[in-house]
Amino acid sequence: NYQGYRAAILHYTHAPASTANSAEPVAHYFADGLLVVDADNGTVVACDDAQTLLAQYPKLPVTCYDNALLTPGLIDTHVHYPQVDVIASYGEQLLDWLNNYTFPTELNFADPAVATDAAGFFLNELLKNGTTTALVFGTVHKGSVDAFFTESEKRNTRMICGKVMMNRHAPEGLCDTVESSVADSQALIDRWHNNGRQLYAITPRFAITSTAEQLAAAGELLAANPGVYMQTHLAENLDEIAFVKELFPERKSYLDVYDYYGLLGERSVFAHCVHLDDEDYRRMSETNSKISFCPTSNLFLGSGLFSLENQPHPVDVSVATDVGGGTSFSMLQTMNEAYKICQLKGSSLSAQKAFYMMTLGNAKALSLDDNIGNFERGKEADFVVFDLGCTDLMKRRQAICKTLDETLFSLMILGDDRAVAETWVAGKKQWHKAEGHC
Ligand code: GUN
Ligand code: FE
Repeated sequence: NYQGYRAAILHYTHAPASTANSAEPVAHYFADGLLVVDADNGTVVACDDAQTLLAQYPKLPVTCYDNALLTPGLIDTHVHYPQVDVIASYGEQLLDWLNNYTFPTELNFADPAVATDAAGFFLNELLKNGTTTALVFGTVHKGSVDAFFTESEKRNTRMICGKVMMNRHAPEGLCDTVESSVADSQALIDRWHNNGRQLYAITPRFAITSTAEQLAAAGELLAANPGVYMQTHLAENLDEIAFVKELFPERKSYLDVYDYYGLLGERSVFAHCVHLDDEDYRRMSETNSKISFCPTSNLFLGSGLFSLENQPHPVDVSVATDVGGGTSFSMLQTMNEAYKICQLKGSSLSAQKAFYMMTLGNAKALSLDDNIGNFERGKEADFVVFDLGCTDLMKRRQAICKTLDETLFSLMILGDDRAVAETWVAGKKQWHKAEGHC
């Protein structure tokens, strides 16, 4: 049961690993492209120029999209599903924001009904914004992660999630213990990791809310469960960094705390990293650890301006919304703010780089580039159809675009959920702008 989708299509590949420029993405753009999907197993069969493929598949049922751009599903590498109701909380920076808004909200997730409702709403918002994969924080409650994966399974989305480990400097109702955090995390790994499209991430919140014993236990869990991810926060805010220094005076830096407890590695994703030094970058690079850059959050919480260029040592940088510190589920709006941060740092983020980052770049940072991120044969068929005429302003702006780069750039600066006409997950339509969730 093959199905065709005809539109302008953009995706990226990496040059073969054997070549000198293997890290460099290669753009593939088809002004009149066709994506062929095997709807039975939800994978990509082919992606090429429409004329070429129609000759090969003359009987193919084809859906045509006008004034549209089709890309791989977008990927968000750091986001908190329980913080839907924390978005747009006024007036605080990180530590007060956590204490005054975030922790009180997360306490409600002791109730599985609250978790199920929030997870469903959250996943629908992602799909509405064209996001089909995310690396997601739950709360300290084991049930919050069961609820999330249950909802994700219903939509067949590829999601990575974990139960937050936190045993100090938070309200009693949000604290686990070293033993319970290990037992709950392991039970969730056994139930959900590699169950269908679901994957698990060991999730110590950050160095402030875990004792040394809990961080050590998280490191042991990671070592004992190959293929499982690790996600946490790192060097987001100056007061946070000062507090970590007080709590772990024997460690060289904030990153060194995580390093000491065995939490670095190629499946370890560190959110923010606004304030790292050269030595931190060297260790991140050596261990192939990943950075998640969260522009709307860094601006909203006043955390600082991340440098996307001029890294002292090469580290994979992905990009993320960090809702509810972040202010939008839209990866387009996230790139809009990323562009402005780059402007203030004296560099320019090209639209091509932004579209690469939202798709294959983020897939690579999550070690999922063999599964998702582009339209190579056999990949899981997650894709978005952008409507380039979604608003009067967008129509007018697009009409005067002369090049692909201009089209992409105006989409990334002006676009948001209004620009997402349809979102498809593993070959099945999950969001349609006119009809809602499928
Ligand atoms: N650091 C520790 N917890 C959090 C969180 O929930 N959001 C953000 N932005 N930073 C954190
Ligand atoms: Fe966060």
